Amino acid sequence: MPTRAKDSLRENRPVHDIDFAAADFQRDPWPTYDWYRENEPVSLSRRYGAHFVFGYEHVRRVMTSPDFTAFHPFRVSRRAFGPTMLDQDGEHHTRLRSAAADPFRPRAATEFGRRVVAPLAGRMLDDLLTRGHGDFVARLAERLPMAVVCHVMGLPDGDAGRLRELMRPLVEYVDHGTVSLEQVVAARGELRSYLRAALSARPGADGLLNALAENGTLDEADVVNTSVLLLAAGTETTAAGITNVLSRVAAEPEVFHRLREDRSLVRAVVTETLRHEPPLHVTLRFAARDVTLGGVDIPVGTPLQVVLASANRDPAVYPSPHVWDPERTVRTPFTFGMGRHVCLGMGLAQQELEIVLHGVLDRVEELGLRGGPLAPAQGRTFRTVRDFECVYRLRSGGDAVRTT
Ligand code: HEM
Repeated sequence: MPTRAKDSLRENRPVHDIDFAAADFQRDPWPTYDWYRENEPVSLSRRYGAHFVFGYEHVRRVMTSPDFTAFHPFRVSRRAFGPTMLDQDGEHHTRLRSAAADPFRPRAATEFGRRVVAPLAGRMLDDLLTRGHGDFVARLAERLPMAVVCHVMGLPDGDAGRLRELMRPLVEYVDHGTVSLEQVVAARGELRSYLRAALSARPGADGLLNALAENGTLDEADVVNTSVLLLAAGTETTAAGITNVLSRVAAEPEVFHRLREDRSLVRAVVTETLRHEPPLHVTLRFAARDVTLGGVDIPVGTPLQVVLASANRDPAVYPSPHVWDPERTVRTPFTFGMGRHVCLGMGLAQQELEIVLHGVLDRVEELGLRGGPLAPAQGRTFRTVRDFECVYRLRSGGDAVRTT
């Protein structure tokens, strides 16, 4: 009988309610996503006072329909970065996004990749690989994205380390970390002062920071908040993406050899890694009016936790979704979102991931993972593989050396 069937499903529930902070969930969220996607694809969480959305089609609707909005005056990203395009809709969103769009257009991103990202990544890789050992994550995956955003903004390379430190509390806060709002406010205050000083020190300089200030449609707060958003949005996610791609190809020596022979596979490897283990698992929306989603009535104003990562493994769209398979013909995954807020830096981020992989293939003859299978990614909202160790042999015939 339907009721009994439903009860027994409930008994098999892996969790009573999603808890981002639970160690088990952070280690392996996939069985939880599977269960909900199959049984309650739109599910009310009492813990978070929000509906969670798990299935591909439901996620697509929330991300693309005007029934849902990114705007909320108190959402966490707004508390961290100030009001930005991420939490606006309508005319204000269009104005902010258009003002920042030029360097991220496909042709500009490709040209920037060739002119700036490739040499930067090459220098970092040479420095790391010729040392014989070193921390890939700290020396490249986390450094490159901030160096790239600094170039886009027209900020000095030398400031990238300090900016990464100032960004950390903001990113932690958005990731529901242990950092307090006071720490966020202090770091954001320093960031804003830094950006204002950079603007007044170099009027007319090249780069997006000055272009925003000279755009004529933004006030000073818009310029500074957009810059803070770009420094945050372009770094943590891209660092996780680079790490996930390198650790994955290290775990698949056969694929690494095929890549060495046929570089046309680079894009598919990057795309599939981003589908399989997206750096950002969840984003937030709000019901713009009373709506029904997946048979569930959702009153206006209700928050929705949109689980992009779960939609990326929906078996209705991706057969054998838990298998990492660069051969699959991929229907657009939600790694970069979808709809009017789709990631502004998507083209640039893809360039960075592909350029690093090409850089490794140019320099490394053999690559492998030390000590068994690849550990799964970890984290709350931002998720990345940690604690992996690679062994590699350089193309120039250097000794077997390692990096973490
Ligand atoms: C692998 C790396 C990246 C991933 C996985 C990623 C993911 C995302 C996602 C899922 C969204 C949509 C959020 C939503 O709709 O609520 C987004 C938005 C955004 N991303 Fe990225 N991102 C990455 C890299 C970048 C880079 C390199 C930049 C710029 C330097 C960037 C700038 C932005 C901005 C400005 C938005 C807000 C767009 C809007 O609201 O209109 N991202 N990103």
